[in-house]
Amino acid sequence: MSNKTFYQTGLEKMEVGEAPMPKIGPDDVMIKVQSVGVCGSDLHYYRTGEIGSFKVKFPFILGHEAAGVVCETGANVKNLKAGDRVCMEPGIPCMKCEECLTGHYNLCRDVRFWATPPYDGVLSEYVSHPAAFTFKIPDNMSFTEGALVEPLAIGLHACNMGGVKLGQTVAIVGAGCIGLVTLMAAKAYGATRIVVGDMLDKRLAKARELGAVTVNTAEEDFADKVMELTGGRGADVAIDCAGFTPTVDACLRCAKPAGMVVIVGLGAAKVDGFNTDMMSTKELTVKSIFRYRNLYPTAINAIADGRIDVKSIVSHRFAFDDTIEAFATCTKDIRNVVKGVIEY
Ligand SMILES: NC(=O)c1ccc[n+]([C@@H]2O[C@H](COP(=O)([O-])OP(=O)(O)OC[C@H]3O[C@@H](n4cnc5c(N)ncnc54)[C@H](O)[C@@H]3O)[C@@H](O)[C@H]2O)c1
Ligand SMILES: [Zn+2]
Ligand SMILES: [Zn+2]
Repeated sequence: MSNKTFYQTGLEKMEVGEAPMPKIGPDDVMIKVQSVGVCGSDLHYYRTGEIGSFKVKFPFILGHEAAGVVCETGANVKNLKAGDRVCMEPGIPCMKCEECLTGHYNLCRDVRFWATPPYDGVLSEYVSHPAAFTFKIPDNMSFTEGALVEPLAIGLHACNMGGVKLGQTVAIVGAGCIGLVTLMAAKAYGATRIVVGDMLDKRLAKARELGAVTVNTAEEDFADKVMELTGGRGADVAIDCAGFTPTVDACLRCAKPAGMVVIVGLGAAKVDGFNTDMMSTKELTVKSIFRYRNLYPTAINAIADGRIDVKSIVSHRFAFDDTIEAFATCTKDIRNVVKGVIEY
């Protein structure tokens, strides 16, 4: 059997090839992949070959937001069978270290995460994965919605860590995929006013469509606008989904006294020059998040019962055979691409 695969072979270079068929261990399942989301981190590796200390060695397989159909199961697997429609949580933690054993498996230092060097991703026809990190999706959910469970889990984790509750005002800087899923999560957790800032009109329009008030940060100061909209009170929770000094600073400035700031953005290696005085005089709580833990079932249920319409952020769909074009378009056409997905 062949396993058609797309390899990144250099900066902004991709080639189609054949990978060996994956092998499954007794606790694994083999999956025929059906949909893969193109994530900001995939595009970052595609453009620059690195994120922080993670450096790609070519050839490298991108893609970590994925859904498909189980086609074979290992001898010990009881929760899944051939033919099940599933989505896959891309990080496989060691389940032996202190972080894993205390329930913070997303912080495992030995995690093997798809498309994070040195581990290849899923832009293949077939992949194997532990059954414990493979989740059934119901028939009313598409494979693309299954693939988007991954970014949605980040938005849910950000809102959980920020303690977003009914009636609150949530301010979000950055309206890329992560900002938009955070907006949807905040709404689902009960936030009644959500303010989203970005500089790209198409993304701001999408945020408005999803119920947010938007601020074009090329024209207006985000924090000033949040203060104006809240009558000088500020946001209960401010969430940075961009990762730059001015965006973190805007969150610190627009959070209300005793409010919460959550940093999701990893864009800049170093954030400096922001006003730490704000953290002291407002008694802010500042948290960071890394990926998610135990949130796949929540995300699947929220999508399946229609509470979160995650597919509404998809702006571009590509066929698997057109994966090379998908990466070129998502990289070059940033003004128009909100979220790209590859459908097999
Ligand atoms: N913590 C985690 O586990 C985690 C997981 C996934 C992604 N991330 C990070 O989250 C961030 C967002 O991811 P994404 O995929 O949505 O990226 P993205 O690049 O698609 O979106 C970022 C958005 O921020 C906007 N932006 C940049 N500067 C701004 C400014 N000054 N004011 C307002 N908006 C501004 C950009 O226009 C863009 O739309 C990235 O830094 C990514 O690395 C973190
Ligand atoms: Zn992703
Ligand atoms: Zn571990």
